[in-house]
Amino acid sequence: MEQLAVIGNPIEHSKSPDIHHAFAAQTELSVNYTKILGDIEGFEQQVRDFFADGGLGLNVTVPFKQRAFDMCDKLSKRAEQAGAVNTLMMGKNGELYGDNTDGAGMVRDIVKVLEQPLKDKRILVLGAGGAVRGVLGPMMAQNPDIITIANRTVTKAEELALQFNCDYSSYEDLEGPFDVIINGSSASLGGELPPLKDSLVSDKTWVYDMVYGAEPTVFMQWAFARGAQGADGLGMLVGQAAEAFFLWLHKRPEQAPVIEKLRAEM
Ligand code: ATR
Repeated sequence: MEQLAVIGNPIEHSKSPDIHHAFAAQTELSVNYTKILGDIEGFEQQVRDFFADGGLGLNVTVPFKQRAFDMCDKLSKRAEQAGAVNTLMMGKNGELYGDNTDGAGMVRDIVKVLEQPLKDKRILVLGAGGAVRGVLGPMMAQNPDIITIANRTVTKAEELALQFNCDYSSYEDLEGPFDVIINGSSASLGGELPPLKDSLVSDKTWVYDMVYGAEPTVFMQWAFARGAQGADGLGMLVGQAAEAFFLWLHKRPEQAPVIEKLRAEM
């Protein structure tokens, strides 16, 4: 039985055990995936203990992704680019290996599950925090026409644009409409919206929110009211899990049925 877990604080409401157990059932693998309440002081020791006890893979969530990054001996290129780690495993020589599957998980959800290509598209990304840093590398790998990063604090958008070879803008100076808009700003968690002009969307615009909920997010409601179509980030959650499952167990589970099951339970 393979031992897997997710560590975070809070952790009670994590859907990761359900997702990974669904993947295990599909692929006929024997997996025990548990939740670990991360200790603000003792996080690093908890990680070491998990692997010392024979754990195969550990997911890391809020607020520990940067601390996981800092304690790794080896990093994937996408983890290095993201500056954060959400997936840990042990290398052959006992070195701690860190990956970040958030961006690949989001892109896979958009391109494969939702069948919205990003190649040659004019894409607007809202926000310039950790969530956005985590997805820009895999998004650029899809060869979009252009990615413009818009942020309230423009210097943070500029920094990311420089690192990832994108464009950047303030909210006021944006010129739409865009083919695709991805919301990675945490504003909507508090029920707020960045100052978005109506002209950013048309009825051909496709939108994606990196967060999810039982109802469409305020950002999706704003876009849908202007004729756009799109989806929330439930599939990103399943996508990042599928990428981690593949890294640990070398099997690619079907994501769509798992997304459907979670949606039905919300
Ligand atoms: P996360 O890890 O979720 O990305 P973060 O690194 O704190 O969290 O980043 C939050 C992002 O949401 C930032 O881009 C932030 O804009 P600033 O860099 O200007 O702070 C954005 N954000 C949060 N609240 C917002 C609001 N009310 N309006 C616009 N942008 C907001």
